Amino acid sequence: MTNFLRIYAKQEHLTPGGGETVELIAQAVNPAENDLLLDIAAGKGEAACILAGRFACRVLSIDLYDPFIHYAAAKAWHWNLRDLVTVLRADGKRVPVRDAVCDAAYCIGAPSIVGLEPCLAELARAVKPGGHVIVSDVVWREKPDGSLGPEWGWVAEINPRLRQDEYAALLAAQGLAVSDVHTHDRSAWDHYHQHMLKVADEARASSDPEDIALAEEIERQIALERRAADAFLDYATFLARKPD
Ligand SMILES: C[S@@+](CC[C@H](N)C(=O)[O-])C[C@H]1O[C@@H](n2cnc3c(N)ncnc32)[C@H](O)[C@@H]1O
Repeated sequence: MTNFLRIYAKQEHLTPGGGETVELIAQAVNPAENDLLLDIAAGKGEAACILAGRFACRVLSIDLYDPFIHYAAAKAWHWNLRDLVTVLRADGKRVPVRDAVCDAAYCIGAPSIVGLEPCLAELARAVKPGGHVIVSDVVWREKPDGSLGPEWGWVAEINPRLRQDEYAALLAAQGLAVSDVHTHDRSAWDHYHQHMLKVADEARASSDPEDIALAEEIERQIALERRAADAFLDYATFLARKPD
């Protein structure tokens, strides 16, 4: 299995524009002390710890990848946030919370990884009336005609290919009112990649064939994502709200 903890060893946000999206969440939600936020696909728990540390809100963080779950839980302990940040192993398609119990819900860079429509449905279900739902994800700036070849890797597998307005329509279909969409600058991809490139550089300097293979895998993925960002893909954060 791919060693994601190693690939992402030098970064805490695991998506382009992650830090910016956390700031958009902070500004829009402005949680009160003890408010409950849901974080689907929390990764290394960076967003949860930033928000809990800044607002003293509670965050229920869920993910399915054990190394990230352990890392996020350890981070919450390390920052003395264990009373506020709860890390659970759970599927973002079936979140273990009752309807309308969360003051806000978000998923940074992962709805289409979790399963787009089930993830959006769970975010909308979990949040109270009036609560914010915020997601970031890839969207298509330009759609190619027809299918893409195998040289496009995971980009060729994206289905459906949604433009920003089509993605917003999916949020609306969950009964959410979209108030704003933020398109991240192209530099957000470079910033996201620069940490992985450092991991690749260090691995390349080793004589271990496993390290060399890891470096090659990282370099291939980054080259692919750079081509995709240049030709087709944007990264966008959608701010929406469940009507009162
Ligand atoms: C691109 S990372 C984003 C992590 C984090 N939100 C961030 O911004 O740093 C995608 C995350 O989705 C998680 N994931 C994938 N499928 C999932 C599922 N069905 N339910 C919950 N988490 C899932 C992965 O384990 C990984 O942590």
